[in-house]
Amino acid sequence: MKVNGTHYRSIWYDHELSKVKIIDQRWLPHDFKVVELETLQSFATAIKDMWVRGAPLIGATAAYGVAIALEHDASDNGLKNAYDTLIQTRPTAINLRWSLDRMQTELANVGESQRPAVAMEIAHRIAEEDVEINKNIGEFGLKIIKKLAETKKPGEPVRLLTHCNAGWPATVDWGTATSPMYHAHNENIPIHVWVDETRPRNQGGMTAWELQSHGISNTYITDNAGGHLMQKGLVDMVIVGTDRTTAQGDVCNKIGTYLKALAAHDNKVPFYVALPSPTIDWRINDGLTDIPIEERPEREVTHILGRNSHNDIAEVQVTSEGVPGGNPAFDVTPNRLITGLITERGVSEASKDALAEMFPEMAGATKND
Ligand code: MRU
Repeated sequence: MKVNGTHYRSIWYDHELSKVKIIDQRWLPHDFKVVELETLQSFATAIKDMWVRGAPLIGATAAYGVAIALEHDASDNGLKNAYDTLIQTRPTAINLRWSLDRMQTELANVGESQRPAVAMEIAHRIAEEDVEINKNIGEFGLKIIKKLAETKKPGEPVRLLTHCNAGWPATVDWGTATSPMYHAHNENIPIHVWVDETRPRNQGGMTAWELQSHGISNTYITDNAGGHLMQKGLVDMVIVGTDRTTAQGDVCNKIGTYLKALAAHDNKVPFYVALPSPTIDWRINDGLTDIPIEERPEREVTHILGRNSHNDIAEVQVTSEGVPGGNPAFDVTPNRLITGLITERGVSEASKDALAEMFPEMAGATKND
């Protein structure tokens, strides 16, 4: 999508320099910095320390990480080392494992001399597929927004609420939850987006930034405001992303998503999840028992980063000294609270049978059958 009129993806290969480049998201929305990743370790750090983030982008970055690692050591050992290093970076988003498994499987029978080039081709393919998947999610999500727009008076916007950043920076392009918004905007359907700030890391700031850049009307709200807005009838639809969705349609997403789903359920507001198929973990059913929830550093809770009145990006402490911070980064929304899963093949009910019907060729591997 566009930043100041220039089209960017969140990760790309600079063919002139033969380098992988990313937008360093630690500084968004305050600063737009592009950095190169040149070693396996720099890819691992970029994922772990959230220079890149969002499940689909984590997957694409890991694929490029393997390709770059193989340029230095293309042996079986080199491949194993790349896999083992990258898999440890973040535990919750399944796209990481999906992408590493795919690299490992597709490279297993490729000779050492061919491996770096083939690995790079697969990484490019993963990135391109992500763009295509998200574009399709946007088209299916658009149909839902269009239906809601039909119930409005002329010019009245469809009001969507979103949590975290499931936007283009979280994917290679388009975003998942934002893709239907961009599609609606491109068709001149008036929309307004309530953007949850998403403490502790305020990914909502990124969502507001990207929507703003595209002229999409939005309001940045505190995480606690959503329930109130729903009670007042000011939200027509909630749409969020996912870091891992189980075979039965339980959704693990950024901490606080579950509370939004509860409020939506109580207020009969449709709650949709934008779900690319690589984010489905077909091996598990019960999201509450089977998904590892990342615990992040307490400093992310006790401190906050922003731009101060001197125009510097600065961190301030929001607690008194020594107060312990707890930082579970994700939570699970059970399938019963979900109106629909917007996938690249269409909108599925959040149930085991419906997901298996939508993706019959992938659904075979469920552990608990
Ligand atoms: O911790 P983050 O910023 O990587 O978490 C991101 C999210 O929770 C997103 O909602 C999710 O990855 C879906 S992104 C299309």
